[in-house]
Amino acid sequence: MPETLSLVQPDDWHVHLRDNEALASVVGHTAERFARAIVMPNLREPVTTAERASAYRQRIMAALPADTSFEPLMTLYLTNATSTDDIEQAAAQGVTACKLYPAGATTNSDKGVNNVEALDPVLAAMAGCGMPLLVHGEVNDAAVDVFDREREFIDRTLGPLVARHPTLKVVFEHITTAAAVDFVRAHAPQVAATITPQHLMLNRNALFEGGLRPHHYCLPVLKRETDRETLVDAAISGEAAFFLGTDSAPHAEHDKQSACGCAGIYSAHAAIELYAEVFDAHNALDQLEAFASLNGPRFYGLPVNDKTITLTREPWEVPEAYRFGEQAKLIPFRAGGQIHWRMQR
Ligand code: NCD
Ligand code: ZN
Repeated sequence: MPETLSLVQPDDWHVHLRDNEALASVVGHTAERFARAIVMPNLREPVTTAERASAYRQRIMAALPADTSFEPLMTLYLTNATSTDDIEQAAAQGVTACKLYPAGATTNSDKGVNNVEALDPVLAAMAGCGMPLLVHGEVNDAAVDVFDREREFIDRTLGPLVARHPTLKVVFEHITTAAAVDFVRAHAPQVAATITPQHLMLNRNALFEGGLRPHHYCLPVLKRETDRETLVDAAISGEAAFFLGTDSAPHAEHDKQSACGCAGIYSAHAAIELYAEVFDAHNALDQLEAFASLNGPRFYGLPVNDKTITLTREPWEVPEAYRFGEQAKLIPFRAGGQIHWRMQR
């Protein structure tokens, strides 16, 4: 059993950094571990234009610790009103990708897209400039069981979309089901997927363990054990279509522990360490570098990082909470518990 592990420095291909004082509270955790991260655009006022993306990028750079070379990769939030001009401007200004939220599917998605087909000219423009589409893959339909919304999205929306736009690169974000793993395998290399630590570690029982567990609630919601096992199999396979995306999604404690609690799990404080635990538990540490550091840049057509990081098998205690701005607290994944791998600094 290896006691230390060196990897090409990983990137996080899906993270929520939020804004203002929340941003300042969390960005250091991501910047300590990752060279780059795909920054989600679902701010309260979503990042819908190149101009907003560049202003948001500047706020992120200003919030970073002094000694980092972390690079935020910006994304645009697609709405019913996004135009092909918006895409061309974004591409010209270095925006990396666009995010499709079905309207109402998750946090701050009410300005998302109602009719995906109506967006075909925009998707064609993205394909034309080689810009990947990142997809929150759930239907928002009250008639569909919450646990079936990802599978239903594949049939209703994603399958047809990928067929209509065969040259558009698509990332199926934070996949949670065996159906999604099958879909990605059948459509690689056009389609790839990110997988979060929580979906590799927990099944839906974790939502109800001895009582209601708001800190295990995220979207897409945790699924069955058989789904979790299939996700682990995909992540440790080394296949180029699967890569790291934490979906670290901080919310204040009082917004999580509420009569209508927000969806999102905060994992940035221990992101690469949590993945190391999963790969270690499956004797697959030799595949962690492909998943965390190689497959993502290759899909995005970006260089692999030249720095390395070192992890050691050494337990450490996760704090009960972190500060989240001036007033609030942030309860991290595995709060008060131990993590079995540590990143050397
Ligand atoms: C995310 C958030 O809070 O912004 N929440 C979550 O549960 N993952 C939104 C998202 O990625 O769905
Ligand atoms: Zn997310």
